[in-house]
Amino acid sequence: MSEGKLLVSTQTSSFPTQPRNWYRCGRTSSKVLVCFVLVLFAATVFWFWSEPAKRGESDVSRPRQSVGEGFVSSQACLECHPDQHASWHASYHRTMTQLASNESIMGPFAGEQVEVEGVKARFTREGEKYFAELVLPDRDEEKKPVVMTTGSHHMQVCWTPTGWQRELEMVPFAYLKEDNRWVPRRATFLQPPGTDPSQMERGRWNRACIRCHTTHGVPGIDYLQMHTHVAEFGIACEACHGPGEAHIAYHRTQNDSKGDDPIVNPAKLTHQRSSEICGQCHLVSAMVDEPGFLKNGFPYRPGDDLSTARHIGHSEFGEGHFWSDGVVRTSGREFNGMCNSACYQKGELSCLSCHSMHQTKEDPRDAVQWADDQLTIEALANEACIQCHTRFEDTSQLIAHTHHPADSSGSHCYNCHMPHTSYGLLKASRDHQIDSPDVKNALRTGRPNACNLCHLDKSLGWTVDYLSDWYGIDPPPLAQSDKKVSATLKLLLTGDAGQRALAAWHMGWPPALEASGSGWQAPHLAMLLEDPYDAVRYIAKRSLNQLPGFESFSYDFLCDPTSRKEARKRAVGIWAGSARDLPEDPFSVLLDSDGELLREMQQNLLDSRSDQEVRLIE
Ligand code: HEC
Ligand code: HEC
Ligand code: HEC
Ligand code: HEC
Ligand code: HEC
Ligand code: HEC
Ligand code: HEC
Ligand code: HEC
Repeated sequence: MSEGKLLVSTQTSSFPTQPRNWYRCGRTSSKVLVCFVLVLFAATVFWFWSEPAKRGESDVSRPRQSVGEGFVSSQACLECHPDQHASWHASYHRTMTQLASNESIMGPFAGEQVEVEGVKARFTREGEKYFAELVLPDRDEEKKPVVMTTGSHHMQVCWTPTGWQRELEMVPFAYLKEDNRWVPRRATFLQPPGTDPSQMERGRWNRACIRCHTTHGVPGIDYLQMHTHVAEFGIACEACHGPGEAHIAYHRTQNDSKGDDPIVNPAKLTHQRSSEICGQCHLVSAMVDEPGFLKNGFPYRPGDDLSTARHIGHSEFGEGHFWSDGVVRTSGREFNGMCNSACYQKGELSCLSCHSMHQTKEDPRDAVQWADDQLTIEALANEACIQCHTRFEDTSQLIAHTHHPADSSGSHCYNCHMPHTSYGLLKASRDHQIDSPDVKNALRTGRPNACNLCHLDKSLGWTVDYLSDWYGIDPPPLAQSDKKVSATLKLLLTGDAGQRALAAWHMGWPPALEASGSGWQAPHLAMLLEDPYDAVRYIAKRSLNQLPGFESFSYDFLCDPTSRKEARKRAVGIWAGSARDLPEDPFSVLLDSDGELLREMQQNLLDSRSDQEVRLIE
């Protein structure tokens, strides 16, 4: 390791320049010798006292990046694998964790100011250096350097040193890419109003984020020390292929009897071992050995059995991450869902059945399109499922199964079997636990069923009838309102904040608008512009913008309650003044036969809204 070399150079530089014969006996030389011994002693004490990390890099205030333990970094792979390097370079995995630089920083840093409840930040820049000037309760006004970033696809979070060893804390504002603006970090999660906006999550990066956002991250936390280091910032080759040093040596050696190549190709592993590589990060779990992790990082390497390092978990490990039947409900935790699917348990489904971590040469999409979800070309369509469920290759079998025209979004397997019932990053995401529309379970768990997430204007009663007709599924008993009122509208008005967010998101989902019309959602979405949860207001506004007449409707989800009320009235006004198509049964969406809003009924539902606190921290 490079540290050995550094030790030598430290000693040489602290060694006084002396005549060549300094080591000969004599008065001057013995003084020098004593000096030398003292200096050596002091250097040794300092050496052991200081963390190994501090010796290697000029910036000792943030986590260190250094190779070792067999890790050699992506740079070492470029020479022999330029194509794989290029597709990885285009992926969001690479840019997950970056040092702050002109290339990595996304938010504006030209003196922009943001404020929430007295917590303020001003973002400034001096050449390649970035700063956040913070005003926080109980702290002096500070100008803090931004040294690292998290994220680049939907949002970006900035990190600043606490000043203690290599510990970081978070600037309590995040940059939202879609809106090109700074927002309080608390607003990027679905969590109850009143959550403290000044939280800087001191040390969380070093302990928690490092697990899933870097390659071989080591918190280095031991007694009073925090020597945090990573093999590579960002999620790079060796996170999925294992340490590469031995592989490179293998290919540089000309020797016929050199055994097996030690590198791991996930595509050549069993579906379990291969999926576990992704599962390292895309799951809810608890550490088998937390103190060991905090000190030395994970012992797990690609190809190993993940369960030796993690308790792959259910509710007990991640409160808020699961629906009541144990289906994961936050995004970024796809491994938990997929592992509970029959296709994985009885078949060989793996993440690689649908996703590809390197774009192939035949792929006509540009790298940016591919990088969004990193799906294989086949997995964009039903081929993802037909590769195993081959009977649906036959269009007549497909139609007989789905009861929708073959080219309808209602014949797309994902839409019934992997609906968007997970939540994260201010949007709904596909549930990776493959299951089927089931009203009984929806009533029991509160997790909406796929039919009603597309047929937004239909009641559970409608769905139950078709599920019974088409699939012979026994209809569960329903309350009167569930027979009459649109199921998704009911969730929008009466559900808990997590359900409201999902309902609101689907009210702007193009396939759902195609199936349900788009002329009736606005006066209901408008109500959510006054929702107590930041995330719900944000999603409601985004969905409103999908509706005709609302394309340029402006509203700031962070505005004060008076402005929210005005925005709500403005939206209802626009809707009332526009011509509109009514659904087949206007009553199901709380309109009368003239298309007028049944306000009292709407209010009654709103009054029964679930105010149970929901926290979905993905
Ligand atoms: C000196 C050249 C060289 C370097 C550097 C190198 N590789 Fe390879 N790698 C090869 C050769 C040769 C093969 C086998 C032929 C092929 O698949 O291209 C290979 C194959 C692979 C495979 C496929 C193995 C399989 O069983 O299918 C993976 C994965 C891989 N390398 C990853 C890496 C990673 C990660 C790095 C950087 C840490 C790296 N390689 C650096 C030469 C190299
Ligand atoms: C268990 C693994 C895990 C941990 C721990 C974790 N994350 Fe993540 N994070 C993910 C995954 C997976 C995604 C991608 C989710 C998706 O695309 O739906 C993600 C996405 C994100 C994003 C969005 C990135 C973008 O490009 O838009 C941010 C921001 C983020 N995480 C911040 C954090 C912070 C801050 C921490 C530490 C407090 C943290 N995460 C801890 C796994 C994790
Ligand atoms: C997020 C996980 C991940 C990262 C990061 C990653 N790979 Fe891969 N790599 C895979 C998977 C999975 C496969 C199997 C084929 C596929 O999915 O595309 C693969 C396949 C390969 C192969 C075999 C040939 C091929 O294209 O199938 C090589 C070589 C390779 N990767 C090299 C690299 C190098 C070099 C890097 C970094 C520059 C890298 N990989 C980064 C997951 C990853
Ligand atoms: C070291 C942790 C880690 C590993 C290993 C890992 N991922 Fe990820 N993955 C993440 C994080 C964190 C993100 C969020 C990146 C972002 O969006 O900025 C992510 C994003 C993604 C995305 C969404 C990309 C986007 O932003 O649209 C997909 C798809 C994905 N990963 C699949 C996989 C698969 C499949 C594997 C296994 C071959 C894998 N990942 C391995 C941590 C990891
Ligand atoms: C049967 C196909 C299939 C399998 C298997 C699968 N995915 Fe996905 N995945 C998808 C589709 C389709 C999307 C989303 C496209 C969309 O948004 O409509 C997706 C989206 C994602 C995203 C982005 C989520 C978001 O919206 O933020 C991540 C991350 C991801 N998958 C990770 C994984 C991981 C990790 C595995 C294995 C544990 C896996 N997937 C297995 C099909 C699959
Ligand atoms: C790698 C192969 C494979 C892929 C890909 C696959 N499945 Fe499956 N699937 C299976 C196997 C095997 C079973 C179990 C069959 C049995 O029990 O007889 C199954 C079972 C099912 C079931 C029944 C579930 C249950 O709980 O009984 C459904 C529904 C299903 N798959 C839908 C899908 C959909 C939709 C996709 C694509 C998004 C898909 N599958 C992709 C192999 C696969
Ligand atoms: C319109 C919604 C819908 C679409 C689209 C759909 N399915 Fe289904 N599927 C269902 C329902 C509902 C059930 C449950 C039947 C039951 O519980 O008995 C089901 C059951 C299944 C099953 C298990 C029972 C069986 O028939 O083997 C499999 C496998 C399956 N679907 C695969 C697929 C595949 C593959 C696709 C795409 C080619 C697909 N489905 C598209 C609604 C749909
Ligand atoms: C992804 C969206 C989507 C999903 C999920 C979906 N459908 Fe459809 N459905 C449509 C569309 C679009 C049409 C219009 C027909 C077409 O595609 O041209 C339609 C038409 C229908 C029709 C006939 C027209 C009507 O409104 O009476 C019925 C009945 C129906 N769907 C029932 C269901 C049931 C039951 C489910 C769940 C098992 C379901 N759909 C799931 C999109 C969807």
